Amino acid sequence: MTQPINPNMLPSGNRGAFSVDPMTSPTLPSRYYTDEAIYRDEMAMIHRRSWCYVGHVADVAEPGRYFTDTVGEQPVLVVRGHDNEIRAFFNVCQHRGHELLTGRGRLKSKGISCPYHAWLYKLDGRLAAAPMTDQVRDFDKSQYSLNPIRLAVSAGLIFINLDADAAPFETEMNGFGASIEDHLPQVAHWVVAERLHYDIKANWKVVYDNFSEAYHIPVAHPKLALVLEQEMVEFREEKRWTFNRFKSKQGFPGLELEYGSPYYAWQAWPHLCMLSLPGSENLIVLRMAPDGVGACAERVDIYTPAGESERHPKLQAVRDLFMDMFNIEDISIAESVQRGLSSMGYDQGRYVCDPSTSWFSEIQLHWFHMQVLAALQTDQR
Ligand code: FES
Ligand SMILES: [Fe+2]
Repeated sequence: MTQPINPNMLPSGNRGAFSVDPMTSPTLPSRYYTDEAIYRDEMAMIHRRSWCYVGHVADVAEPGRYFTDTVGEQPVLVVRGHDNEIRAFFNVCQHRGHELLTGRGRLKSKGISCPYHAWLYKLDGRLAAAPMTDQVRDFDKSQYSLNPIRLAVSAGLIFINLDADAAPFETEMNGFGASIEDHLPQVAHWVVAERLHYDIKANWKVVYDNFSEAYHIPVAHPKLALVLEQEMVEFREEKRWTFNRFKSKQGFPGLELEYGSPYYAWQAWPHLCMLSLPGSENLIVLRMAPDGVGACAERVDIYTPAGESERHPKLQAVRDLFMDMFNIEDISIAESVQRGLSSMGYDQGRYVCDPSTSWFSEIQLHWFHMQVLAALQTDQR
């Protein structure tokens, strides 16, 4: 089930109008990956209105622990309060607008102290102290709290939504957390084993697109192709997320897989891709934060049970498979595609699909593009 979309408002390119039917539709016109005005609309209508993954409860394990992030090009912070509540705020001081926190860590003082003039905020966002303001006329500290951001936790994963009027997480992402916990029951108690960051010279959608199909795996990921059978065991499509299950071949040096071990992949609107590779307990979470129309910051968070890497040498093989080959190969693909999307020699291609949703189907790619078009809802492009 995708978002409602007006078929009369779908964009056209050199191979015709985009269609709600993936079997007949040309792909999204290339201007959707290169046009500054479309990108600005995406910030306003997608990234600043959707439930966006930012981290895991393990990142804010105890009171005072915090991390910062950028969502829809907006600096944000997430912190656990002394009352144990996890909260998100815009990462901006209400005095003159300095950013409050950087990176991640644990606050040493009682609150969040601005590095510019030392206004001090409690972890619930209230302004606790503002030096030398006794003489400031009608200055009411209660009017200068940090601006809060809506936050939801699902299967231990933290999501925020910058739009105070957006539909609740439970409505948008119904069943998502349960689906993860069905397959990885303890995931909410896992820890961060690895955190990687890649600056990619490609539009955020190019990276997400690439994750949306297995068609390229035998060609572009020869080692991964030795791990996976070319068979989709399960495909599920919900309002804002999808789930795929593949199965493994036997063997693979370092993983020593039993035949048919599960490989899970989830994708969630707007920019979250997750996979769990066979051979050990792991959840690899990729998030593509837009950074201008032709660039994005991909963050990869690898979650495992505590102590898993010592207990489980196979985890190293999973990490190597993902980091050294799989992801590096995908980044080079994405950057090449971005250059190609800017080429005068290309505008639209075709979705390679079949009605029975075979392993190679690009149906999820079409699903994602439908979401993009529904969010932008315009015939002006
Ligand atoms: S801008 Fe933060 S205290 Fe002045
Ligand atoms: Fe790939």
